[in-house]
Amino acid sequence: MNMKCFWVGFLLFCGFFVVGFCDQDGFLSISCGGNTSYIDSSKISWVPDGEYVSTGNITTVKNSGGTSTSNVPIRYFPNTQGRKCYKLPVNNVSSLVLVRARFLYQNYDGLGKPPAFSVSLGRAITSTINLTTNDPWTEEFLWSDNKETLTFCLLAIPDGGSPLISSLEVRPLPQGAYASGMGDFPNKSLRKSYRINCGYANGSLRYPLDPYDRIWDADKNFTPFHVSTGFKIQRNFNLSTLRESPPAAVLETARVLARKEVLTYNLPLDTLADYYIVLYFAGIVPVSPSFNLLINGDVVQSNYTVKMSEVSALYFTRKEIKSLNITLKSITYYPQINAIEVYQIVDIPLEASSTTVSALQVIQQFTGLDLGWQDDPCSPTQWDHIGCEGSVVTSLELSDINLRTISPTFGDLLDLKTLDLHNTSLTGVIQNFGSLQDLEKLNLSFNKLTSFGSDLENLVSLKILDLQNNSLQGIVPDSLGNLVNLHLLNLENNKLQGALPQSLNKESLEIRTSGNLCLGSSTMTCNDVSSNPSIETPQVTIFTKKKQSGHNHIAIIAGAVGGAVLALILSLAVFLYIKKNRSEVTYTSRAAAEMQNWNIATEMRKWNAAKVFSYKEIKAATNNFKEVIGRGSFGSVYLGKLRDGKLVAVKVRFDKSQLGADSFINEVYLLSQIRHQNLVCLEGFCHESKQQILVYEYLPGGSLADHLYGINSKKASLSWVRRLKIAVDAAKGLDYLHNGSEPRIIHRDVKCSNILLDMEMNAKVCDFGLSKQITQADATHVTTVVKGTAGYLDPEYYSTQQLTEKSDVYSFGVVLLELICGREPLSHSGTPDSFNLVLWAKPYLQAGAFEIVDESLTGTFEVESMRKAAFVAVKSVERDASQRPTIAEVLAELKEAYSIQLSYLASFEHGS
Ligand SMILES: *[C@@H]1O[C@H](CO)[C@@H](O)[C@H](O)[C@H]1NC(C)=O
Ligand SMILES: *[C@@H]1O[C@H](CO)[C@@H](O)[C@H](O)[C@H]1NC(C)=O
Ligand SMILES: *[C@@H]1O[C@H](CO)[C@@H](O)[C@H](O)[C@H]1NC(C)=O
Ligand SMILES: *[C@@H]1O[C@H](CO)[C@@H](O)[C@H](O)[C@H]1NC(C)=O
Ligand SMILES: *[C@@H]1O[C@H](CO)[C@@H](O)[C@H](O)[C@H]1NC(C)=O
Ligand SMILES: *[C@@H]1O[C@H](CO)[C@@H](O)[C@H](O)[C@H]1NC(C)=O
Ligand SMILES: *[C@@H]1O[C@H](CO)[C@@H](O)[C@H](O)[C@H]1NC(C)=O
Ligand SMILES: *[C@@H]1O[C@H](CO)[C@@H](O)[C@H](O)[C@H]1NC(C)=O
Repeated sequence: MNMKCFWVGFLLFCGFFVVGFCDQDGFLSISCGGNTSYIDSSKISWVPDGEYVSTGNITTVKNSGGTSTSNVPIRYFPNTQGRKCYKLPVNNVSSLVLVRARFLYQNYDGLGKPPAFSVSLGRAITSTINLTTNDPWTEEFLWSDNKETLTFCLLAIPDGGSPLISSLEVRPLPQGAYASGMGDFPNKSLRKSYRINCGYANGSLRYPLDPYDRIWDADKNFTPFHVSTGFKIQRNFNLSTLRESPPAAVLETARVLARKEVLTYNLPLDTLADYYIVLYFAGIVPVSPSFNLLINGDVVQSNYTVKMSEVSALYFTRKEIKSLNITLKSITYYPQINAIEVYQIVDIPLEASSTTVSALQVIQQFTGLDLGWQDDPCSPTQWDHIGCEGSVVTSLELSDINLRTISPTFGDLLDLKTLDLHNTSLTGVIQNFGSLQDLEKLNLSFNKLTSFGSDLENLVSLKILDLQNNSLQGIVPDSLGNLVNLHLLNLENNKLQGALPQSLNKESLEIRTSGNLCLGSSTMTCNDVSSNPSIETPQVTIFTKKKQSGHNHIAIIAGAVGGAVLALILSLAVFLYIKKNRSEVTYTSRAAAEMQNWNIATEMRKWNAAKVFSYKEIKAATNNFKEVIGRGSFGSVYLGKLRDGKLVAVKVRFDKSQLGADSFINEVYLLSQIRHQNLVCLEGFCHESKQQILVYEYLPGGSLADHLYGINSKKASLSWVRRLKIAVDAAKGLDYLHNGSEPRIIHRDVKCSNILLDMEMNAKVCDFGLSKQITQADATHVTTVVKGTAGYLDPEYYSTQQLTEKSDVYSFGVVLLELICGREPLSHSGTPDSFNLVLWAKPYLQAGAFEIVDESLTGTFEVESMRKAAFVAVKSVERDASQRPTIAEVLAELKEAYSIQLSYLASFEHGS
């Protein structure tokens, strides 16, 4: 395919300075709709386009260019087809490329209606092609976007007919070419308006005369007596001073005025826009002409002198012009110009943040919806279902599909102002929206949501909240009053009851409540709720697992808890609800009574490991909930002191509508069974009336998140060896959950704020609110409603809903990345590319580029130790779960990294 310099005549002609450019290195010439490869008369190799495009129909048209008529293939795109894009490989991402596209209609369809359409390159819509005006039509661009693929698309316009294309060419240009004078225009691409070989009238020149295959058009307004042909570029002539220098064949002709007068080019432009102008001058005549240069009447260079035997160029940009008048006014000798290039400057829109893009891709994969087809959700055109402001995705509308669960991925779309998920079969708790600080409109109507959750109160910008026609139960949470901007709250047709909280009693707020069980003023008489059995029936999905070695276990899937225990507690809750006024009932004896009904004596024995506290005891221990030491997603944590003097952390759930009972029971149940030095120990619990309280051992060191990011962050005290020790500890805890405990347990919410430290900086994993046990010893995965924390969530789990231990490995990989980089998984500062820690850090760490390691660690770590930790972190966040290591493998690697760092530190001790 590579053709070295051939053509002897050419060699003589262009001399030494072209040798080496003559092969077609990096050239890509695509015959659109073609079915064979061939070599044309300029010795350029053409290939068919099948590899680069996946849609469109092909046909041939008669091309009556020149003297002969030939059949030329084209590809056209009927408008029923969505994607009309070519994906072109870019061999060298840092280089500028020339892209040339040719369009040919020639009435191939016999309709006599030439189409009009737009074309885009990457994110930029570059031009509109109107084949009524010109047929054929050629467009040419200079492009650089540091991308490995260049997407070239045809975009239909209303009543424009079917877009079509006949050829596409890509030519690499030298790095740094056409950069001079472009300083004021970052992130721009250039669209060719003119490229004139001044003083030459006999057709256009291109490859191989121009090694970069620019096409230099004849000087159309050429007047014979100005001709300067006959000059030869001398061997000592230096072309290499200019990266974009025209080839010798172009420079050896010039437009020269015979008298000391005025030389003018009048160049009409097709669009009012900003333009980039390059003028080339070569000292080919034996005198040095001097002249003043004017562009649209302004003197842009006075007394410009062309130096002999040298090529030079002048670069200009002109804003908002519609025509160009280039005038040379003689001072000495005759004015002269050798070549002119004029380009329209095309804006390349900013990229959408990679966090947003990956979240949308996950949503697209999960929903099976085809949201869009371009690389970027906002440019050149917005994806379906999405709205953008500039490069920022501000709305997402996904109604009338089967979404089932509110995924944490929605929480990654940080700039959303409007989110419409009406009629998407959502069930369960309203959650995972907490990070959407800009959200103004949230439409969750016509779903099957059952409880409010605690995320809504974080939506500080919320103006309209539409929850009508759901299955929301219980009372309306007081915390909705925190939404100061809320002016419409639609709660119609739910199963809500009780009085509306005082906090919602605002003039600015319209609340619609009709169609609920019993919602409104407190004096309302309501039906006895307990007589309506449908309300309190525990909703547990039970499935029998496949027959296996003769046993028939029952695995409980929904509700994240052993089913019998859940049923027990829920029925207990019903019991307590009915007997509200007699809440002194002791928990254990009631439970024992219920136990008889459910016949789960074996389950109950496990419960005995944790102590049951009364609410009175809890109040006394916490000194009436005096000292808050933390606040989590489910409630606040208070410092407490038991009667024996032991300090405890008391986690009280605010749980006004009985939500989250399952996760509470789940946590108690799991924690009471497991004991491990790297897992926070449950001392006991309290479940009286509506109270859900967990009593844990107290860890005075706070959480890893506090250390890394807290207001009084002690990051500096977190040396690399300490971080490794913490990582090893936490991995040991997780390893026990995955491999040591029976049943095996998947934590599901591994994150820095769930890793606590004691006085000696030993780390323990806590918060088992979302954990799930694998009841079948050999089960490889469970299908579950997706839960977790934005930024830590395994993308594969999200898209497949298949939960495995590898999801914890992913989240733990994120924790490792945080330890290495000292930053949070999602941050809304910095450049869009760095929002998502995983996407940002992975390529650096893979390349061993440790400049992204937390600044406070600089110079303190042994590189091999860092390399090991970074490698295992990167492997852990592989998108493909099967590529991730197991937690046991992670632990082994971390132990090694730790011991390498230890011996490194020891070597200093000995050395000093
Ligand atoms: C290629 O296309 C031409 C018409 O453009 C057709 O005559 C020829 O049969 C095709 N060849 C193959 C191999 O498809
Ligand atoms: C384009 O091709 C498809 C099949 O390849 C065919 O069904 C369709 O009718 C064609 N459209 C036009 C406008 O020729
Ligand atoms: C294309 O050009 C023709 C003639 O100049 C004009 O009538 C037509 O409106 C143009 N089409 C579009 C879509 O601009
Ligand atoms: C890419 O192009 C630049 C300059 O044109 C060159 O320095 C670099 O070596 C090229 N890289 C590759 C991989 O070809
Ligand atoms: C140019 O684009 C890059 C990458 O998209 C971006 O980082 C940079 O801020 C942009 N520069 C300007 C001036 O917009
Ligand atoms: C124009 O170029 C053609 C071939 O490219 C050549 O045959 C012809 O003589 C040239 N005409 C003039 C006037 O130079
Ligand atoms: C172009 O500019 C020159 C000098 O400013 C002026 O004399 C000439 O009339 C202009 N031509 C047109 C067509 O505007
Ligand atoms: C123009 O510049 C040349 C060389 O730079 C100088 O010799 C000449 O005097 C200048 N002419 C005018 C009119 O300034």
